[in-house]
Amino acid sequence: AAMRSSKKAKNANEPPVVPYSLPIIGSALEYGKDPVNFLLANQAKYGECFTLILGGQKATFFLGPDGNHFLFNVPLANASAEGVYRTLTVPVFGAEVVYDVENAVFMEQKKFVKDALNTTAFRSYVPMIWEETVNFLKEWKENPGTLNIFEEMSELTIRTAARCLLGKEVRSQLHSNVAKLYHDLDAGLAPINLVFRWLPLPAYINRDRAHKIMTDLFTRILRERRANNDTNNQDLMQTLMNSRYRDGSVMSENAIAHLMIATLMGGQHTSSTTVSWILFELSRRPDVVAQLLEEQSKVLTGKPDTPVDQLPAFDYEQLREFAFLDCVMKETLRLHPPIHTVMRKVTKPLNYKGFHIAEGTLICGAASVSQVDPARFPNPTKFEPSRFINNDEGAGEWTIGGVDIAQKSARSHFLPFGAGRHRCIGEAFAYTQIKTIVSIILRKYSVKLPISPKTGEPVFPKPDYTSLIVLPQKPAELVVTPRA
Ligand code: HEM
Repeated sequence: AAMRSSKKAKNANEPPVVPYSLPIIGSALEYGKDPVNFLLANQAKYGECFTLILGGQKATFFLGPDGNHFLFNVPLANASAEGVYRTLTVPVFGAEVVYDVENAVFMEQKKFVKDALNTTAFRSYVPMIWEETVNFLKEWKENPGTLNIFEEMSELTIRTAARCLLGKEVRSQLHSNVAKLYHDLDAGLAPINLVFRWLPLPAYINRDRAHKIMTDLFTRILRERRANNDTNNQDLMQTLMNSRYRDGSVMSENAIAHLMIATLMGGQHTSSTTVSWILFELSRRPDVVAQLLEEQSKVLTGKPDTPVDQLPAFDYEQLREFAFLDCVMKETLRLHPPIHTVMRKVTKPLNYKGFHIAEGTLICGAASVSQVDPARFPNPTKFEPSRFINNDEGAGEWTIGGVDIAQKSARSHFLPFGAGRHRCIGEAFAYTQIKTIVSIILRKYSVKLPISPKTGEPVFPKPDYTSLIVLPQKPAELVVTPRA
């Protein structure tokens, strides 16, 4: 009897479980189809902490600023990210890095990558991104018309990111090789791989082949650099070659190659989907586009109305002064955060506001939900970049161990780059790359939504939640016309 009552007491302390009608599958279909709205509906019914059954697994959500703070700062002793992400990522990134190593080692690896993404590097990247973008746009027809803008921006970001991050040797092989290899590797990251991971499907054969070719390519370059004493490079590979763990050891050749792959992959869909959503949002807001062009004109010529075809190129310092463009990117990330849910697996029971969270539970945070809280963002579904003027809400910068430099907590509504030890290290690079691309496109083209032949209404793409990163649903089209 004692046992029964203690069990009952324990259950009573667990977060409410959202009812479901399908055994095992639970709420996976509803959650998978439209996670943000499903979570919002459950938040209205059950509050900010509740459990979904997703494919037989308990997934407890912690919503709102308190929930964000709890999830992003959950102690390492209680929960791990690798418990969730390891199976999917290790075949793609490779061994010895990221979720294949102890968290303390990965934290040092993140610091190495962050060291490579510094101001000096960004100064050299802006002209490279400029050149890649201008060359890419030359491949568009004179009057491009209707384009699948997400596909176009994916191709462009592979080129710009690879050019900046992978170094001079890869640059020459870029258009032939790396983009194709990237696609094969990327197919290995689709969530479906969690279900069929032991079958010899063609996608895995391509994935493993692409992984090996990329690793071999990077390893060969690395050895050539060592043999030729070629160390005067400002790129990620060189930074990783020069980096030392705190115990004085260096990264292995494989680890360097794999961390380069992981970095490239971490930035690809996140960036290409963000550029695309920015363009989709701007297609409905000619007033915002006019403000952005005026901002470029003011920063670059001192006058508000220099004709777009007479605007000069910009450098990194000038790009940083495009402050309203920062607001446009933030507002886009508020409404279209590429990562809608982050997950950890509980390794030792936790307590949250009196709720008992058992070992083995998936614990989840969703800044995508707090970012549309009307209490913090009035009229939350409206795209209004001016909300972010003079507002630096967020969670500081990532530092080793995940302590914020700015001592800001993660008790925030707005966290598109996460917080704590797993916080993004690519934010500054993403801003540099995305702001450069958008600034160039807006000078040359105006963008409009296509009109549906059925309804006669403009078509704004819905979010597609079927892959790990939220993408604009296909065909993700914009009508692109050259500025007069
Ligand atoms: C982590 C978002 C671009 C590399 C994260 C996390 C988020 C995020 C939410 C935390 C994940 C978690 O807590 O589980 C974004 C967004 C981007 C972006 C919105 C662009 C708009 C990039 C870029 C890079 C990058 C360009 C590489 C250059 C990473 C890495 C981590 C990370 C290495 C750490 C993962 C971990 O510690 O577990 N990012 N990211 N990201 N991101 Fe980004």
